[in-house]
Amino acid sequence: MDLPPKRECLNEIKPYVPGKPIEEVKREYNLDEVVKLASNENPLGPSPRAQEAMQNAVHEVNYYPDGNCYRLKQALKSRLGVKEEELIIGNGSDELLKLLAETYINPGDEAVMPYPSFSEYDFAMKVMGGVSYFVSLRSDFEYDLEAMLDAVNERTRMVFLCNPNNPTGTFISHRALKEFMDKLPRGVIVVIDEAYCEYASDPYFPHSLELLEEGYPILVLRTFSKIYGLAGLRVGYGIGPNQLIDDMYRVREPFNVNYMAQVAAEAALEDDLHLARSRTLVEEGRRQIAIGLEEMGLCPVPTQSNFFFVDIGVDSREAFPLFLKKGLIIRTGDIFGYPNYIRVNFGTLEQNQLFLDTLKEVREELGGESGKGCS
Ligand SMILES: Cc1ncc(COP(=O)(O)O)c(C=O)c1O
Repeated sequence: MDLPPKRECLNEIKPYVPGKPIEEVKREYNLDEVVKLASNENPLGPSPRAQEAMQNAVHEVNYYPDGNCYRLKQALKSRLGVKEEELIIGNGSDELLKLLAETYINPGDEAVMPYPSFSEYDFAMKVMGGVSYFVSLRSDFEYDLEAMLDAVNERTRMVFLCNPNNPTGTFISHRALKEFMDKLPRGVIVVIDEAYCEYASDPYFPHSLELLEEGYPILVLRTFSKIYGLAGLRVGYGIGPNQLIDDMYRVREPFNVNYMAQVAAEAALEDDLHLARSRTLVEEGRRQIAIGLEEMGLCPVPTQSNFFFVDIGVDSREAFPLFLKKGLIIRTGDIFGYPNYIRVNFGTLEQNQLFLDTLKEVREELGGESGKGCS
């Protein structure tokens, strides 16, 4: 076919590897029951309040949605104590990453980002012909902020920080974040991706909105896909200085967030009970799985999130089909550069037990030896 050559920068893009969908595994392995612990979703389902709001709104989808997301912004404004002009809503926070790159990245511009971390930072850069500079986490999977600072140069437009980090669950403290930003040259935006911040309970976890108030050039990204249980609707939000939000608005599609997503997100935000239950379940899951892993001599990376990154002592690429055969979807570590690791999110207590039992069987089948535990 006679097509024009595609933009050269697209050759650099590695396709995103999503968690395998439940239906696909059911089909491929002829299973009735499949549990997915691969995409850090909420096992309790969507907020009941969001479900009710969507049912009430379903007869109104003949109208275009409010392109400005007024009601959702008002709800966020009063919850977070930010100004309306500091908010942008996106079709998932994924879209906001792309909008940000479309706003500020010219071919050859650079961004500094951690490795391993969420792959969409690199994607957003590459789509615009930008260059990603990866800085490895330290051997304990903590951020190496000194090395990240060293990687910043006159072409750097952005630094991406995922806090807590996906896939490790490790985090940067408020103080470390502030010190880092004080050392950055002017004209560099710091993206603080807080997709999992609602699960973080460490007292040193940053109050990123204070940094916004103090005038730092940051874009805080959050999502309704994780604790709010609305991943299928695609809605996330960004909080940043008015000027940055204004700039991003120039590249936004007029109706980027669909009506159901807006209605559900507004209701979910007010559903304190669902939020509290989701948080408690994650805390219980964290304890339950840590104990189960420890019994196998395995030691997960300490997490502030709803998942563990853990060395399972066997190659995760070999383990993956065995998990699938037993009806369990997890994420292999090879995509993050750690083939012997998996990332598994916490499910219901029964799902967590199923995961532990299955991991035990899979390790036995692959001849995995008992590890040294966390001591
Ligand atoms: C760190 C991080 N940021 C952003 C996202 C994407 O969120 P959304 O569903 O809002 O696009 C994810 C999803 O896995 C994530 O792990």
